[in-house]
Amino acid sequence: MQADPDLKSRFRAQAMGAMSLNVAYIGVVNSLFATLDRLGTATGEGLADAAGMDGGYVRCWCDAAYGLGYLDEAQGQFRLTESGSAMCPEAHDSLMPIVVQSMLSAHMAERAAALMRTGARPGEQVLAERETILPWFGPMLEANFAAFFEQTICPAVPIFGEVDARAGLAVDLGCGNGWYLRVLARRFPKLRALGLDGFADNIAQAAELARTAGLEGRVRFEVKDIHGLALKEKADLIAMSRALHHVWESGPRDFLISLRDNLKPRGAVVIWEPNWPSTRLALRAPGGQRLAFQNLTEHVQGNHLLRADEIASELRAVGFDPETQLFADGQEAVVVARRPE
Ligand SMILES: C[S@@+](CC[C@H](N)C(=O)[O-])C[C@H]1O[C@@H](n2cnc3c(N)ncnc32)[C@H](O)[C@@H]1O
Repeated sequence: MQADPDLKSRFRAQAMGAMSLNVAYIGVVNSLFATLDRLGTATGEGLADAAGMDGGYVRCWCDAAYGLGYLDEAQGQFRLTESGSAMCPEAHDSLMPIVVQSMLSAHMAERAAALMRTGARPGEQVLAERETILPWFGPMLEANFAAFFEQTICPAVPIFGEVDARAGLAVDLGCGNGWYLRVLARRFPKLRALGLDGFADNIAQAAELARTAGLEGRVRFEVKDIHGLALKEKADLIAMSRALHHVWESGPRDFLISLRDNLKPRGAVVIWEPNWPSTRLALRAPGGQRLAFQNLTEHVQGNHLLRADEIASELRAVGFDPETQLFADGQEAVVVARRPE
């Protein structure tokens, strides 16, 4: 049977879209868009020199980026088009997170394809297998979620203000590049913050970003495995943003007990997770499709996505009193739970 020609053109268009994102990715992670934005116009060689890249590669990249409409050219001088400008990571509403997500998805899909043959689940280090992807993982998450956190979630979680009022300590477990604590510290000037993450590269990036934001001292970061947590100072607040599912499969009960025991009395956890839907049909909605693919990639890392009600029920089992708020059509869940007296 022959494939429906409409179907074939639709998939060809999708493949072209993926290819265009691949070309954009090369320009994003090697600062080619940002450098050309700074220069205004440049030859391929000039761009390569200014970006510190190889001339042969950059010339080929310029042809591809021109073909795909990211660059215009006149008399051998390239300049950014509107879509090229939107690829600059510092641009308002930059397209950078879409491009990075797309390359990360391709990497994870290839790993899943191979690992399915044996069932091996190599864990977190899969993210670090591609030298160009890991440094962009934090900026991608920050670009996707920081504004939503600040504008929608912060106002819905009064506990942040309480911690600020008593100059309390907020600890972010699995903090990535530290954007969550930077948002909190900017918004709540007395709150003190500590971020912990298992990847040294993440912590180095988090510390540098906090320093350039002028938050050094009040916001600290340490490389630490968050299993077996033993804080020197008990926390007023323990936050986890997209990190609880990374430790769930090693045993949620013991992990949540350790959170409880590292909180001051009446301290609270604020757990933000993508909310795995309770019906398969929900996976057909655009947000559900993303969750379904993410869950496949989480499987590679030894994780699975969680339903908000299973998080709440495990918290209840260790003495917390959880309250769940759903956002973004139910695809994002924030569970706030106070430690008992
Ligand atoms: C999906 S990322 C979320 C990062 C950040 N919270 C955010 O919202 O952008 C999960 C983070 O948890 C960290 N992580 C996972 N397991 C960990 C562990 N056992 N100890 C410390 N960090 C861990 C990873 O390094 C990664 O930075």
